Amino acid sequence: MAHVVFLPGDGIGPEVAGEAAKVLAAVAERYNLDISTENALIGGAAFDATGFPLPDETLALCKKADAVFLGAVGGPAWDAVPRPKRPEAGLLALRKGLGVFANLRPIAIFPELAAFSCLRQDIVTQGVDLLIVRELTGDIYFGEPRGEGVRGGLRYAYDTMVYDEEEIRRIARMAFAAARSRRKKVCSVDKANVLSASRLWRTVVEEEHAAWPDIELSHMYVDNAAMQLVARPASFDVILTGNLFGDILSDQAAAIAGSLGMLSSASLGATAPGLYEPAHGSAPDIAGQDKANPLASILSIALMLRMSLNAPQAADAVESAVKSLIREGFRTADLVAENNRNTVPTGCKETGDLIVARLK
Ligand code: IPM
Ligand code: MG
Repeated sequence: MAHVVFLPGDGIGPEVAGEAAKVLAAVAERYNLDISTENALIGGAAFDATGFPLPDETLALCKKADAVFLGAVGGPAWDAVPRPKRPEAGLLALRKGLGVFANLRPIAIFPELAAFSCLRQDIVTQGVDLLIVRELTGDIYFGEPRGEGVRGGLRYAYDTMVYDEEEIRRIARMAFAAARSRRKKVCSVDKANVLSASRLWRTVVEEEHAAWPDIELSHMYVDNAAMQLVARPASFDVILTGNLFGDILSDQAAAIAGSLGMLSSASLGATAPGLYEPAHGSAPDIAGQDKANPLASILSIALMLRMSLNAPQAADAVESAVKSLIREGFRTADLVAENNRNTVPTGCKETGDLIVARLK
């Protein structure tokens, strides 16, 4: 029996998590998987109910689970809450608490959705199929010291970008291993021309590469990587990078793919459980209106089935159901173009139902 904890969170989180849970239940029935689930609080919803964005009880439940699904956290309602209690702090504490140091964000363009890419069509048609391997529990997100104060009559604030060699080595290994089942190319992205942390990053990635002779390794400064990502996205296979650069580049890559609403992610550590989240945020502007695209969440369930629940066939089935839904023209609001009579607008719930129907 596998156990999955769902953390719906804020904004559209509960809507997309609901559809993800529905799909997991359907695929479990179809493939005879013994999976139990339960919901727990995180983010602003948890703060409102308990005063903490990650209650101890939630972290304890997640630690005991085989996999965790997270919808989204945050929203304007908590803008005035001090940083340690903000919804985002709950998510960061969850990642740290579970030790999920590797965030995998696959970015590919569904051919039917190519028109939604913000890139020129001649660039898109060269193909985009890349995987961002983002370090998730270190870097300037967690570095000490950090703080703020007043000196010489001026307010100042600071954060610390810091990596130790073992943090770099283990994420480099993840990237090389992922590349092995793909096109065998890793591009490590840093800012080694300026930052000490990046110079160590580059050295350790080089050292670890010695153990992976079949993988081609290149290095790129992050500013150049941002440019190459829009100019020549087809040239990338696996992008290996730190927490901050990975945060920025993965949103950029999402715009290339067309919609954040289609992008899944998996966060893994040395031991279970994995944490699975859509790459989008809580989208408070459309929350509660049945407009959200649940496919990023449903695709994250596919990743969960493959990477944490040892059910590759069920994962394939979910992914094919998503592909056929797109092929058949069903579209949530983020993917509706004007003047396109070949598509059928759907809401969040209906999209989930259509996937479930295809899994029967
Ligand atoms: C992401 C998000 C988070 C991050 C926020 C919500 C803390 O942007 O998952 O990319 O910065 O990691
Ligand atoms: Mg982000």
